[in-house]
This record gives sequence, C-alpha cells and structure tokens, in this order.
Amino acid sequence: MSVGDVAGKKIVTIEGLEKKGKLHPVQKAFIEHDALQCGYCTPGMIMTVTGLLIKNPSPTRQEIIDGLENNYCRCSAHVRIIEAVQTAAGEMKGGK
Ligand code: FES
Repeated sequence: MSVGDVAGKKIVTIEGLEKKGKLHPVQKAFIEHDALQCGYCTPGMIMTVTGLLIKNPSPTRQEIIDGLENNYCRCSAHVRIIEAVQTAAGEMKGGK
C-alpha cells in the first residue's frame, strides 16, 4: 500500500493495539495459543485478524482462513493462529 493511499486516514500499528499496559484480545490470544514464532509475520497476522474481527465478530473457520489468505506463516503455526482468532473473537464479544 502506498502512503498516498492512506493520506489523511487514521493508521493503527501493532504498537497501538495495547491500551494502558493491557494487550489487545488478539495479542493475548496469539500468546495464549503460541501462535507466533517469528517477528516477521506476526504483526501482519495480528493486524489483519483485528481488522477481520472488527468487520466480522463471529467468523467461521473458513472465513478466518479466507481472511488470512494473504498472510503466510512459514513455521506451520496456521492451526494455532486459527485457534487464536477463535479465542480472540470470543473475548471481543465479551465471552472467553
Ligand atoms: S510465526 Fe512468523 S513465519 Fe511463522
């Protein structure tokens, strides 16, 4: 994405998800499910998942897979990532 595409728009980075020392539910779920191994893909995964859950708070497993189709983990953590998304979705809806 070019800078011109986001000119004048609010931008949130992964550092902006944490509020007052509390991790965002997606960040917590990724840690809880051991869904991250490297520092390369994880920020993109978490930001994509956060956007996905804002647009669709109750995604199906297939919708999660489709939502992450442009994010790749070369460590084979995709199953744990999907589980983390499901946990985060539940927490963001007020459950656990
Ligand atoms: S955790 Fe980053 S490539 Fe797998």
